[in-house]
Amino acid sequence: MLAGNLGGGGGLAAAELDALAPQLEEIRTRLAAMVESETGTFANTFRRPEVAAAKALAARLAGSFDDFLLIGIGGSTWGTIAIQAALCHGFWNDRPELRGGRPRFHVLDNSDPDALREMLHVLAPGRTLVNIVSKSGTTAETAANFMAVADWLRKALGERWREHVVVTTDAGQGLLQRLAAREGLAVLDIPPKTGGRFSLLSNVGLFPAAVLGLDVDALLAGAEALTLDAARSPWQENRVLCASAAAWLWFQRLGSVHVLMPYSRRLRYVANWYVQLWGESLGKRSDRQGREVHSGSTPLGALGAADQHSLLQLFMEGPADKLLTFVRLEAFQGASPIPRIFEEDPEVAYLAGHDLSELINAEQESTAEALRAEGRGSRTLSLPTLDAYWLGQLFQFFMLETFVNGELLDINTFDQPGVEAGKILTYQRMGRPGFAPLERPLADRLDFPVRD
Ligand code: PA5
Repeated sequence: MLAGNLGGGGGLAAAELDALAPQLEEIRTRLAAMVESETGTFANTFRRPEVAAAKALAARLAGSFDDFLLIGIGGSTWGTIAIQAALCHGFWNDRPELRGGRPRFHVLDNSDPDALREMLHVLAPGRTLVNIVSKSGTTAETAANFMAVADWLRKALGERWREHVVVTTDAGQGLLQRLAAREGLAVLDIPPKTGGRFSLLSNVGLFPAAVLGLDVDALLAGAEALTLDAARSPWQENRVLCASAAAWLWFQRLGSVHVLMPYSRRLRYVANWYVQLWGESLGKRSDRQGREVHSGSTPLGALGAADQHSLLQLFMEGPADKLLTFVRLEAFQGASPIPRIFEEDPEVAYLAGHDLSELINAEQESTAEALRAEGRGSRTLSLPTLDAYWLGQLFQFFMLETFVNGELLDINTFDQPGVEAGKILTYQRMGRPGFAPLERPLADRLDFPVRD
């Protein structure tokens, strides 16, 4: 990304980063206050009693279920999907010996009738644990799936259906708290003031992780280490602040598309989670002063090395409007040596004797180098290995970077007013009370201005 590294004379000058120093120090102070506060994003959640509650509940339920069904959408599911894919064997659901007595993992995260019907076709109600996750409790897709699944459980199990449901929702308030109290369902709290897309390291992601037998403490320890470093280190030595500031400068001047490209199949859903985090947090009509800014850069997920045979041509020679962030692993879960076979064929024989990890990492380096030669920016996040600790750091890095970019853009990173209009229109179409067809135009019903 830096001038001097890139062909064609582009890139960021060190002086540009230096000029941001006062703002970065202010942001660091703000972050430190958030970390110390009792509630909210980046509050020092890492030792919260709720985490102990999630672990205790998972331990109590262990062994009683063959299938774990997560119901939610957006920030209530992407993080958990990413954690499961990153830390569980790729054939977790297929082979009992890979699970060590833990349940299979399934997700309903769309209002898709085929997905629901097929899920209920294969699951056995008596052996299924359902975790509905919704901060608001009223999200239509989640509510509809849960109604169908609760009905399916009740018809099969009678009163015992309640033992098969865990509700994760906003602490102390909302429809799901009420419903859980009325029906006697187990409840886990989402800490107050923690938005969906920043909530994966709360009960939202940690309870499912505990049910799957993953190392919840290591996830939190990784996230905590990076957060404390970001909140305490002077900006020049602060990995989060420097990387975030560079990304912000890049998108101010050089780019409008941010590609996240992990070179690891296990990390592919981190890219999906990230797309929501970056897009929903930074794409805003107005800044905090009320000025119309239409901020944001478009996030795009890609998978290395597979997408070198798909998107890379566009990244190399299409519009020069992108920043690529690569994620690579220095060590994979195990060795995969390429055997000495077909030695009479020099076109492939050169691969023999190498490990597949050397090939995938060589491809990542070569792609970065080829982009650099073309004057196209990239950066590489390198994880020593893919375990719970480093995954926790990776998630936290992206959440902190998103926050810092929001601060530099002077926007509200944590709201999503732009998705409300579509929700209201859906409520009208589906006949939700209080949302009858409008006599007045939609714009008059909303708290925020809609353009003509
Ligand atoms: O990040 C967000 O806030 C959203 O993506 C929400 O997670 C999503 O809309 C689901 O909301 P809820 O958890 O209230 O059902």
